[in-house]
Amino acid sequence: MSPATLTAHPSGPLNGAVRAPGDKSISHRALILGAMAQGKTEIEGLLEGDDVLRTADACADLGAHVIRHGGGRWTVEGKGAFVQPDEIVDCGNSGTGVRLLMGAAAGFPISVEFTGDASLQKRPMGRVLDPLAMMGARAEGPHPGKLPLRLHGGNLKSIAYRLPVASAQVKSALLLAGVNAEGGVEVIEPEATRDHTERMLKAFGATLEITPEGPDSSGKMGRRIRLAGGARLHGCNVIVPGDPSSAAFPIVAGLITPGSQVRVDGVLLNPGRAGLYDTLIEMGADLQILNRREESGEPVGDLVARYGPLKGVDVPPDRAPSMIDEYPILAVAAAFATGKTLMRGIGEMRVKESDRIALMAAGLEACGVDVAEEPEGMIVTGYGKPPRGGAMVETHGDHRIAMAHLVLGLGAQARVTVDEPEMIATSFPTFRELMAALGAEIKDA
Ligand code: S3P
Repeated sequence: MSPATLTAHPSGPLNGAVRAPGDKSISHRALILGAMAQGKTEIEGLLEGDDVLRTADACADLGAHVIRHGGGRWTVEGKGAFVQPDEIVDCGNSGTGVRLLMGAAAGFPISVEFTGDASLQKRPMGRVLDPLAMMGARAEGPHPGKLPLRLHGGNLKSIAYRLPVASAQVKSALLLAGVNAEGGVEVIEPEATRDHTERMLKAFGATLEITPEGPDSSGKMGRRIRLAGGARLHGCNVIVPGDPSSAAFPIVAGLITPGSQVRVDGVLLNPGRAGLYDTLIEMGADLQILNRREESGEPVGDLVARYGPLKGVDVPPDRAPSMIDEYPILAVAAAFATGKTLMRGIGEMRVKESDRIALMAAGLEACGVDVAEEPEGMIVTGYGKPPRGGAMVETHGDHRIAMAHLVLGLGAQARVTVDEPEMIATSFPTFRELMAALGAEIKDA
């Protein structure tokens, strides 16, 4: 039985070296591409969080032979095509899982019922279904643009599509559909977003041409991605690097807890994911990146964070896609800094696992932090000292809202409690053990 609540107590210095759990985005993609491809895909370091386990189950339902060896080692044997599943594909809490799987499934002549938990059923699916409909897939369900729905795929035709929002999930869904569309697909993104799908598609045998696009009227640079049709994907070996979005929690905990020195090894530093680390350095964080290297075609490094003073900054709005999941923990760092941290151009945060702007504003305020909510932004004012803490925070089942407030509790004046802590396992099932290994006091109740 998991506890009803979890409490972070103000903790002594955090110390030690840990390994970040496998990257969630790359884990989903490795499984899905492995299932679409012909032959064996061996994966090392897969994140075994609930979201990714749902994708693994879905891949098996869609016809791949999926074997879990333990310790993050998996084999996926794909048939080169999805088959008609007998089961409903339930992606749980995972927006990435369902959107990428819908894109992939649309390319095959099957009809698949997709659903998810209460949070996922509220999230917008039209952003993927509309362009998939232009390619020839058809979705039907009781609430247009929402789960649950049945998707009828096959016989897709090529489109050129300009994304109305900067979303790696939508881009990836279309590229995966394009693999089996007559003539492929072209996706134009207004701002560059994480490119793991492109990198991995190439490794699995697809042909992509990527050219810069822009700047647009607001000066943003995007990309045009052209995937050639008729690709036959073949199995591949994937080593999954550590997740920068998860590493962010122990790193910020080290920066705000007096006397700490925390090292997180093997963190993915793809420029499309590293915006938080650039921002923390601009805030004056004592953050070092050691042993920069390449693993499985992705840049990786070891991060060392030491406690020290932070100052508020104005985060450039065009950095949002490279750190969209990290604003909750950045807002926590900002609460310990001196001055205002302006976070703008982050409207997408409102359609994540929860409305993350509203929940961060409410949680931080309950912890005595000075925060102003805007329709597409958030401003946190810090006073260079630990905030009060001492609150019970409602997470609405959002893993990152829970972890962000627990980290705040480690450096605050009084403990912080969060509800629905079992949801942390969607992205970071080893959060408690990893934080405890560093000396963090995070306990039941
Ligand atoms: C993800 C993309 C982001 C991010 C999500 C993972 C991905 O979503 O928030 O956690 O793996 O492609 P959007 O692409 O919708 O912004």
